[in-house]
Amino acid sequence: MRVQVCIIGGGPSGLLLSQLLHLKGVETVVLERQSREYVLGRIRAGVLEHGFADLMREARCGERMDREGEIHHGFFIAHDGVLDRVDLAKHSGGNSVVVYGQTEVTRDLYAGRDRMGGKVVHNAEDVAPHDVNSDSPFVTYRAGDDIVRIDCDYVVGADGFHGVSRKSIPKDVLKEYERLYPFGWLGVLSRTRPVSPELIYCKNERGFALCSLRSQALSRYYIQVPLTDRVEDWPDDKFWAELKRRLPETTARDLITGPSIEKSIAPLRSFVAEPMRYGRLFLAGDAAHIVPPTGARGLNSAASDIYYLYHALIAHYERRDDSGLDAYSQKALARVWKAQRFSWWLTMLLHRFPDHSPYENRLQATELEYLFSSDSALDSLAENYVGLPF
Ligand code: FAD
Ligand code: DHB
Repeated sequence: MRVQVCIIGGGPSGLLLSQLLHLKGVETVVLERQSREYVLGRIRAGVLEHGFADLMREARCGERMDREGEIHHGFFIAHDGVLDRVDLAKHSGGNSVVVYGQTEVTRDLYAGRDRMGGKVVHNAEDVAPHDVNSDSPFVTYRAGDDIVRIDCDYVVGADGFHGVSRKSIPKDVLKEYERLYPFGWLGVLSRTRPVSPELIYCKNERGFALCSLRSQALSRYYIQVPLTDRVEDWPDDKFWAELKRRLPETTARDLITGPSIEKSIAPLRSFVAEPMRYGRLFLAGDAAHIVPPTGARGLNSAASDIYYLYHALIAHYERRDDSGLDAYSQKALARVWKAQRFSWWLTMLLHRFPDHSPYENRLQATELEYLFSSDSALDSLAENYVGLPF
């Protein structure tokens, strides 16, 4: 088989790029290791920047998002017994975010690919890029007993943090930057009315908590837990009791609990791999960078990679202009590092660090005090949360 662009990974990054390129007449194939049901069973992001929402519309997959997604003009930070609101609209020149789950984004992108007859191969095993540093790269995968070969002009590695693409770049070319945090987030999805119409990020001595939502009938809650904890350690009753302890009293009183319909633990990590291009292989999304979820930047950073890569590939195919492809890594990384900084900062601000000294704890408290006493500090938080321009 021959296509112009072979995309490894059928998560939001790979599907969005495939859909956008298809609409411009560029032929792609998406190779996904898992089944569609498995991909759609993963509960992850919930907060989208408008830049991301615009790309979904450009991909002709934004209709349901526009109908069912909620526009949020602010969120709360609970600390020291108070509930302070961050007015995003006021502090970012009228901007906002869209609350719409990654699962639904992915479902809409799959529907778009199906509608247009896009090629998405599921259960593709042993996917491997070859000769990416030559003019004739190809990708192989195994389907049962058969090895399938796909020749292409370019390979896009959109296969997430544990994918094969980044690992195929020689070690002496790739530089990796990493920071691990000594805790994870335990997330619970429940078919209950959210405790607050807007998100609440809670800093508490027992650890961080987040009240988020997918709709006014579907809640998503998180609590900071030690890395050693397992999902089995947290039956629903124990989760709700611990969440209540970390919320302000009035919020805890209003919390409606119910059976969890999904429960998972995600470790927190900051990670960047440079460069994001090696020959004819381009990395995008979690394949190249990870942020702790605190700032809701992960999926949005993936979308900004796709924005740059899509425009660069279109310039190549429509005008034989390769300047976008040549600048891709540098351009994408400039925005990626800003998302890294913001996510690291918000994580440090709101979590309990078991190894912090009393001095560091006082600095953390002072940072929060400063935030809510300074319009410039709130402007900076808001402009990063709604998303820096592409
Ligand atoms: P992925 O979603 O990881 O997709 C990669 C795909 O590649 C997967 O389907 C995988 O099965 C496939 N794959 C892997 N290896 C191979 C292989 N060898 N061959 C073929 N296919 C392969 N981000 C936000 O912006 N806002 C939020 O509110 C937010 N909240 C989050 C909350 C949590 C708890 C977590 C864990 C993450 C959150 N994120 C958030 C981050 C966001 O979910 C990710 O950044 C996003 O999924 C990245 O998309 P991706 O397509 O690049 O990678
Ligand atoms: C969600 C996740 C986040 O990391 C965040 O900052 C906000 C919301 C969520 O899953 O709803």
